[in-house]
Amino acid sequence: MAINNVDICCGLAWGDEAKGKIVSQLIQYNKYDWICRWSGGNNAGHTIYVNGIKYATHIIPAGVFYGIPCYIGPDCYINFNAFTEEIEYLKTNGFDVSKIYISGKAHVITDEHIDDDNKNYKKQQGSTGSGIAPCAKDKFARKGVQVKDCKNFPYNIWNETVSPLYGDILCEGAQGFWLDINYGEYPFVTSANTLPYSACSLGFPHQVIRNIYGAAKVYDTRVGVDPSFEHDFSETYESVYTSIAKIGEEYGTTTKRLRKVQWLNIDKLINAINISGTNHVIISKIDILEKMNSFVYIFNDNYCHFETKEDFIKNINDIILNKCDYVEKIIYSDNPITVDLLNNSSSLST
Ligand code: IMP
Ligand code: MG
Repeated sequence: MAINNVDICCGLAWGDEAKGKIVSQLIQYNKYDWICRWSGGNNAGHTIYVNGIKYATHIIPAGVFYGIPCYIGPDCYINFNAFTEEIEYLKTNGFDVSKIYISGKAHVITDEHIDDDNKNYKKQQGSTGSGIAPCAKDKFARKGVQVKDCKNFPYNIWNETVSPLYGDILCEGAQGFWLDINYGEYPFVTSANTLPYSACSLGFPHQVIRNIYGAAKVYDTRVGVDPSFEHDFSETYESVYTSIAKIGEEYGTTTKRLRKVQWLNIDKLINAINISGTNHVIISKIDILEKMNSFVYIFNDNYCHFETKEDFIKNINDIILNKCDYVEKIIYSDNPITVDLLNNSSSLST
């Protein structure tokens, strides 16, 4: 069976753009044969609601909640203990974990990697302390350990060179555009390729990609150290940023750290949409700005204020449609659990 269609969901910002919600919705609309994770490790935190109950995973794709085979690809990093914990958590909650496959080529995060991360990256760069950078360092120095080399590995190992993926595939992104090792504000990035270009590492050609769902939020948030994010933190907005963080519950899924907030930077968003090839933009948490009754974005380094939500949205849409050739739909979401990707009243077609 060949590969038919591939859909990709990626983050257009610094992670935490509600990709989990989008992925979970796509699974309900489409019949996928595989839900895949192409990069990163358990530094990510994906929040998914199933039948109204909130679940959080770090490395295992959302297919596990719907009985669909899941694949963790060769460009991922695996912390064996954290993986086992996640499996136990899913089992305890009644989910079938028998259809989760890990690429034999994924790299193993060791205790030494975690120690190194905690000593040398956590404070300096605000890393999540999950051992990602040290594991990547060993991988690229070609002295890492791959999953297939682990003795008595108790989970399903997938050999993609012998058995390629097939059918319809959904690729679940982790982190976001500005954390990509190549496109982010290096060195304040993660050690992974977070963009659709690297989803092909799962073992499919570019030609089979159908839709790219780019997730954004109506304001920007950042967790971890990043001087490029700090410079706009003007005193004028300090208290409104703090209120947005509180009302929007901007705490890390993995680290529980409070995220820094800023108005949406449209110039950055445009860059992320164009380079990722996003054709469906999903902008979440519009309700939080509504609660604050503050509608502001940054465009061309100016703070642009709007009186109404409608005016604010119209201006964002106009800029995106003017500057992003691939965009077919822009969807605004005010619900943390679901998103109407098919027929949203705010969506546009070009
Ligand atoms: P690392 O991936 O743990 O090495 O962290 C590197 C940078 O990426 C830090 O600024 C982290 O806060 C950030 N980061 C990594 N994973 C995530 C995520 O899933 N959401 C948001 N930020 C993340
Ligand atoms: Mg997250």
